[in-house]
Amino acid sequence: MRPPDTTAAAVITGIGACLPPRVVDNDAVIARGALLTDDTWIRERTGIARRRHADAGTSTGDLAVGAGRAALSSSGDRHPQMLLLATSTPDHPCPATAPSVAHRLGLDGIPAFDIAAVCSGFLYALAMATALIRAGTCATVLVIAADTYTTIVNPRDRETAPIFGDGAAAVLVTAGHEDEPGAVSALDLGSDGSGSDLITIPNGGSRHPRHTAPADPDGHYFRMRGRAVYAHAVRRMTQSANSALQQAGWAPETVRAFIGHQANQRILDSVGDRLGIVPVHRFGNIEELGNTAAASIPLVLADPAVHAVVKPAERALLTAFGGGLTWASIALNWPSATPVSDQPSPSSPHLP
Ligand code: UT7
Repeated sequence: MRPPDTTAAAVITGIGACLPPRVVDNDAVIARGALLTDDTWIRERTGIARRRHADAGTSTGDLAVGAGRAALSSSGDRHPQMLLLATSTPDHPCPATAPSVAHRLGLDGIPAFDIAAVCSGFLYALAMATALIRAGTCATVLVIAADTYTTIVNPRDRETAPIFGDGAAAVLVTAGHEDEPGAVSALDLGSDGSGSDLITIPNGGSRHPRHTAPADPDGHYFRMRGRAVYAHAVRRMTQSANSALQQAGWAPETVRAFIGHQANQRILDSVGDRLGIVPVHRFGNIEELGNTAAASIPLVLADPAVHAVVKPAERALLTAFGGGLTWASIALNWPSATPVSDQPSPSSPHLP
């Protein structure tokens, strides 16, 4: 590794996305789980009309490889020095998915590990990449966020099944200068484990190992106490985003791209209003993709329609909230990289 360059800023120089091709509308989710709900309730209470579902056999790692390849292609740099994968749906409980993704991208030998911060995972990983670059530990970090919540959500649970979709996105972060397009200006991260029961998979971990888990036929499924999470999400994302703005020295009215975690359109509206960012500067994809967990913010960053509106180096504010509880916000200059999309990469037969 090169000697430390502690004057370096972390700059997003490549952006990639990978979505499973299968589009599933609200009526199809309702029919699949025989849910007591309707299209109007889901649209009005969440803002979601459709989402992508990965086909059986397509894993988080398969989406992550597609997104990572796309980000490397967008940047033109094929040799990142580290790979971070934000996910809460890894291919296996053990080992981490990141080394396998690195291997499949032809990056054997570089450090690669998973970051488990649920829906805040992308911003946690981008913050880690920023710190590593500012410390001079490495000059390029590939940050991938990928989740396949359809593998953990109970299709018969009307409070979660309509909300979540599958997807992955990635950015290449490179040492550069603080005034460049894509440069990270300020970070705010936090957690509150007293709310760890609000978003959880009860069984299958070391607290309740699969073979001794309490009898609960649905204990291996993802659970969310939506109403309580909603209130925390609005409060924490607003506080955290304000903290990032203060650290950057930016007034909210100077932000030209506000991207919140795509959990619920009403949450996003509430946070945007509280921050004082007018709707024309807010961007999202929840109507088309639902909540893609860690991938939700970078999938908006990778949307060509957003790049058609926001100009390189304009001020952008990203904020997320998720299980843990965790939250994170990042202020950055809008990147000049052109986003690239790729397909899920099928697992090779030798993978377990
Ligand atoms: O990604 C991590 C962060 N996640 C979030 O931030 C998600 C936060 N939570 C939410 O987005 C919302 O709470 C939900 C979309 C999950 C639920 O919407 P809500 O408007 O907050 O509903 P609620 O939880 O306040 O529940 C109101 C009623 C309940 O019935 P009762 O107890 O009043 O009889 C729910 O059972 O709405 C019921 N409900 C539904 N009704 C029809 C919940 N989901 C549905 C549904 N269709 N799909």
